Amino acid sequence: YSPEFVIKSVCDKDRGVRMVGPDLLVLYGSQTGTAQDTAHRLARQAQRRRLKVRVMSLDSYNVVDLISETLVVFVCSTTGEGEPPDNMKNFWRFLFRKSLPAGSLSRLDCAVLGLGDSSYPKFNFVAKKLQKRLLQLGVHMLVPVGLADDQHDLGPDAVIDPWFSSFWDQVLVLNPSLAELDPVRDDEPLPPSFSFHFLDDKPEPDSGLRIHPVQTVPSQSCPFPARMVSNRRVTDPTHFQDVRLIEFDISGSRIEFSAGDVVLIRPCNAEEDVERFCQLLRLDPDSSFTLSPTGTWAVPAGLPQPCSLRLLLRRHLDLSSVPRRSFFQQLACFSSHQLERDKLWEFCSASGQDQLHAYCTRPRRTALEVLADFPHTTAEIKVDYLLDLFPEIQARSFSIASSLKAHPDRLQILVAVVQYRTKLHRPRRGLCSSWLASLDPQQGEVSVPLWVKKGSLRFPTDPDTPVVLVGPGTGVAPFRSLLQERLMEGKTGNVLFFGCRSESKDFFFSSEWEDMMKAGHLLLFTAFSRDQEEKVYVQHRVKENSALLWDLITKKKAWFYIAGNSKQMPGGVRDALKEVFQLEGGDSADEAEHRLVLMEQTGRLQRETWS
Ligand code: 2AM
Repeated sequence: YSPEFVIKSVCDKDRGVRMVGPDLLVLYGSQTGTAQDTAHRLARQAQRRRLKVRVMSLDSYNVVDLISETLVVFVCSTTGEGEPPDNMKNFWRFLFRKSLPAGSLSRLDCAVLGLGDSSYPKFNFVAKKLQKRLLQLGVHMLVPVGLADDQHDLGPDAVIDPWFSSFWDQVLVLNPSLAELDPVRDDEPLPPSFSFHFLDDKPEPDSGLRIHPVQTVPSQSCPFPARMVSNRRVTDPTHFQDVRLIEFDISGSRIEFSAGDVVLIRPCNAEEDVERFCQLLRLDPDSSFTLSPTGTWAVPAGLPQPCSLRLLLRRHLDLSSVPRRSFFQQLACFSSHQLERDKLWEFCSASGQDQLHAYCTRPRRTALEVLADFPHTTAEIKVDYLLDLFPEIQARSFSIASSLKAHPDRLQILVAVVQYRTKLHRPRRGLCSSWLASLDPQQGEVSVPLWVKKGSLRFPTDPDTPVVLVGPGTGVAPFRSLLQERLMEGKTGNVLFFGCRSESKDFFFSSEWEDMMKAGHLLLFTAFSRDQEEKVYVQHRVKENSALLWDLITKKKAWFYIAGNSKQMPGGVRDALKEVFQLEGGDSADEAEHRLVLMEQTGRLQRETWS
């Protein structure tokens, strides 16, 4: 079975007459769920125009079927340094095969909408490159590629909304007969994407996860339920920040990883949130149901059938992130309570966006809290709409902090427990880190669904190449993995710059570094920012050691790495390195910059940062 052959043979046929009222296919590549939500928004607009529509992630779509589609919209975000999201990686590889003949998709009407962030250098790289490739393959583009920008004052909607309008204008131009159809009014609810069939029997209590088939490597659609071995706080109890070193047993999982790789973990909602939700919607969490899809999208992978409401709410539906505008739109359609309904419509209107921002986005109000603020409307939500209203819980990624060579069958992560205050009474908590922190393997067996993916950091394979690692705070995680690995391999030339607030409060792993230093394997520089009057940061230590670094980088050809979660830190370290080149090498500012760019281009200066 050769996909190339299928494409060729169908394309040799005549283009044929366009059908009235095309079926719309919306394909998305989404890392954090925004592109997915945008795809569903477009699908709802299509339903209102009475088009038949399907929504799918690019990798769950059989790409060779594209030749028999008529109208396809691609909604794709760009991640990190210009990478496509995980759930379109296979599609991406397939699309750029040289063997795909130009013109293979000449029957297709298309549009590409990109979601990106202009503060990154490769802004909307994926969408731009996708549009170019599709044009090579012969598609007809209905509208120019849309480039939504997170940095826009009004958020990505500032581009998405007008782009949607011009897309529909073009669809109408191509299919004038669509105009004769009576659209579903904006304030009428659309039919739900699933129907729930409740069963008489009570389900088994939530036994955790589906059994993982050991033949396959764990992935998003089939995570491995890893047993938590330990969950230890590594910062002093008096320190403001709770940071955990968490260890999982991955024996029998077929998971493999090396330094720099990333583990993805899908968190659960708190039990009390599930209870609260059920009270508000007047649902019995212990009822069980089967789902039948109405055709727009498939039952989410990993959702067992039959399923208990408790399991759906605990493990699948995201109740605790800040809801998007489309959530309010749907709620408004359900509401028959005048006051609540007016308020909800206001939040959906163009003029109400500032208000919505002040009510929801700025204070980080959760969907569950919004429901509690609109109790009458919430009580009117029909259970069939749950999957339309709430997105799936997204997996969170963590840099792996251990090495398989040093800890076989084990995987460790370093987790800063996210907690902060806004104007709202209850403190805001990160769903995943709080959930992980709450799990106590000493109180009974705990399993956590996870899988692993390749990270973006690349390390030298030549055993004589030294590494300089700058990783303040939890930024040290991938470097701990690397140092463990290099030690097992007998590699010397390991230099670490570590920064934290105080030697006595958050200098985690200090005894491990000490052992490595005693054995002559590690050179460590520390910056304790708050142990003295003036702030001391890792970049200060970099500057202070300019002669050593100059020698390592220029003579010993060391590779240099920066990892961490501070917004300014990576830039600060880069600037310090520039000063090292000026001081030790006599570079001008331009020459030093050029030297850095060259190192970046050749992979000798890499960074991994997160917010
Ligand atoms: P601070 O909180 O005292 O400012 C780990 O979080 C360490 O990174 C802390 O010591 C923190 O210091 C420090 N840090 C904060 N901002 C930084 C920056 N711009 N550059 C380098 N380190 C920074």
